[in-house]
Amino acid sequence: MSAVWILGGTGRVGRAVADRLLADGTPAVLVGRDAARLDAAAAGRGHRTHVAAAPEAVAAGIREARPAVVVNTVGPFTRTAPAVVDACLAAGSDYVDLANDLAAVTALLDRGEDAVRAGRTLVTGAGFGVVATESVVAWLCDGTQQAVRVRTDMLPSLAVQAGPLGEALAGTLVEGLPGVPGGGRFSGRRVVDGCLAPAPLGGAVRSLVTPDGDRLSTGLMPLGELVAAQRASGAPSVESASSEVPTGRAVRTVLPLAARLLAIGPLRRLAARRLAAVTFVERPAPRAHSWGHAVVTWADGATSEGWLRLGEAQATTDAVAAEVVRRLVEGEGRPGAFTPVALLGTGLAEAVGGVYRRTDAGRP
Ligand SMILES: NC(=O)c1ccc[n+]([C@@H]2O[C@H](COP(=O)([O-])OP(=O)(O)OC[C@H]3O[C@@H](n4cnc5c(N)ncnc54)[C@H](OP(=O)(O)O)[C@@H]3O)[C@@H](O)[C@H]2O)c1
Repeated sequence: MSAVWILGGTGRVGRAVADRLLADGTPAVLVGRDAARLDAAAAGRGHRTHVAAAPEAVAAGIREARPAVVVNTVGPFTRTAPAVVDACLAAGSDYVDLANDLAAVTALLDRGEDAVRAGRTLVTGAGFGVVATESVVAWLCDGTQQAVRVRTDMLPSLAVQAGPLGEALAGTLVEGLPGVPGGGRFSGRRVVDGCLAPAPLGGAVRSLVTPDGDRLSTGLMPLGELVAAQRASGAPSVESASSEVPTGRAVRTVLPLAARLLAIGPLRRLAARRLAAVTFVERPAPRAHSWGHAVVTWADGATSEGWLRLGEAQATTDAVAAEVVRRLVEGEGRPGAFTPVALLGTGLAEAVGGVYRRTDAGRP
């Protein structure tokens, strides 16, 4: 029981994480549904492969092989995670996924008691998304003051790889928030009085100037960051925003209509298929750095503001996922379900090249 299994082994993240682990002496098994695509992904790299065409076959394979860690890179995670987590807990494997949507992150964290009973570690949000801002919030909230309000902003600088967007990402984008309290499947969320409440998608726009001098706008997105920031700060009022959400007034007017259309099942499946086939041309990262940003308001009205400087967002995701796996293999896990920083601390971001910076606004 030593190998790491990577579900979605033919994908961008799956291949990159396997390469990083192998470079550090941790062999991984690429798992996928198509033998030829798996062979192409493993070609010349020395990875082993395992073909499992259906989700049931993946679960059966985990139960039989009992890998040390299973990494799930197949979105939408609300659909793929439950059966994989069941198999991991039965097999005695730790579990890591790349989810960054509120529904999937919340659902995984809800399995904490199952994980404790099985004595295994479950980690969700092991990527730029979640870790960039969770790190800043945890770094600012050192336990000496009570946080009453938190706003997080994720500002990825993402290089685009040539090729189709793909099923996993497209499925995640149109999945919405099935089963998440506090609003509809396709509406936004914020935390109010400690509970999830509706929020306008792309709303509460803020203009930020990064420490590099780049000016970017961020708008509310119901991301895994929301629940990670709430847990890291204990604040009753939390908002999470992203520079990736369109914040122009016209788009913000259209977003609620698009969201209502996605609520119709056949239209959602059509949108997922169309989106999956959208093909990108290669494009370099637009800025020198990606950033996580957070502002914490304390009980006495003072605020603290922090930034986390990171590299290109996709490479950061690959590095974070590989680092989390490495630490689980080395025995740094503990029973329960966690976001990465809640389990491994703020040093996780520094281990992947992150640099914190404090720019406190002071007292009102
Ligand atoms: N937290 C973060 O910051 C972060 C960052 C990046 C990505 N992500 C998430 O990570 C996931 C993977 O991203 P990626 O860029 O690696 O995507 P990708 O290149 O499209 O790879 C997706 C992988 O999933 C497999 N797959 C897709 N649909 C499947 C299905 N129905 N059954 C079995 N396998 C299926 C694909 O296998 P085939 O070759 O057989 O199609 C492929 O191996 C996405 O869901 C994305 O949302 C999160």
